[in-house]
Amino acid sequence: MPPTARAMPGQNRKPAMTKTSTPTDVSRFHTDIAEVARSRHTAKAYTGEELSAAQVNDLLDLLRYSASSVNSQPWHFVVGSTPEGRAKIANAGAGDDGDYSFNGPNIRACGMAVVFAARRDIDETYLAHLLEVEDADDRYPEPSNKAEMAQIREWFVGLMRDDGGSAHGWCARQTYWNGGQFLLGAAAMGLDATPMEGIDADGLDAEFGLADAGFRALFCVTVGRNKDADDWNFGLPKSRLPISEIVTQA
Ligand SMILES: Cc1cc2nc3c(=O)[nH]c(=O)nc-3n(C[C@H](O)[C@H](O)[C@H](O)COP(=O)(O)O)c2cc1C
Repeated sequence: MPPTARAMPGQNRKPAMTKTSTPTDVSRFHTDIAEVARSRHTAKAYTGEELSAAQVNDLLDLLRYSASSVNSQPWHFVVGSTPEGRAKIANAGAGDDGDYSFNGPNIRACGMAVVFAARRDIDETYLAHLLEVEDADDRYPEPSNKAEMAQIREWFVGLMRDDGGSAHGWCARQTYWNGGQFLLGAAAMGLDATPMEGIDADGLDAEFGLADAGFRALFCVTVGRNKDADDWNFGLPKSRLPISEIVTQA
């Protein structure tokens, strides 16, 4: 059976025309992002230098402004931007011995450690909350726009539920997209970073009340200043599969 054509939210709406597509501060958009991707590396040692408040705020905005399917934003972040905060994350997520202790020193010595957590499920209360925030942000000039979005988002979330009926897998995938933006964004800001899946998710869930609040820790990203002399990954050539192997031209 052919798939049913379905209107996406806003498909029939006229553009609001409140801004032009020309960035006002063009210089900010001139970063050679492909060169950032080629030259960034995973930091394996940090200097212990703190980040400035402005850098921390920009990094928080990277988390906040990430795209997500139907604007679901199904995530929560535990942020350590002080030595005490990072120590808490390191103790709960890496420990001093055990499987994940190799990540502990970097969580402690970076400038900002972020635990990325995803919703365990999406319920009607959360869907209603999203809709109200969007309404307050003037996303719905017409009441019908809001009703349309509510309907389509509910349908889409239902579609993304796994066999057990939970939407966690989908929420986790949204959160990984956010992690990719964060990693590239940190590099574009001239900072070094380390994505870490080697963390004790249960330990972090318990320490920061994530499980009780309906979230599951997935991974951590540390950001700061790389300590070149102690970093075995610094200066090594990149190794990647060739474009011819990973891309099929359609
Ligand atoms: C999902 C994910 C999990 C990773 N987990 C860890 C980790 O726990 N600790 C660590 O030091 N590096 C970790 N890495 C870093 C990878 O080892 C690194 O990205 C890869 O070897 C490529 O090197 P590059 O980032 O320097 O280009 C992880 C990377 C990703 C994307």
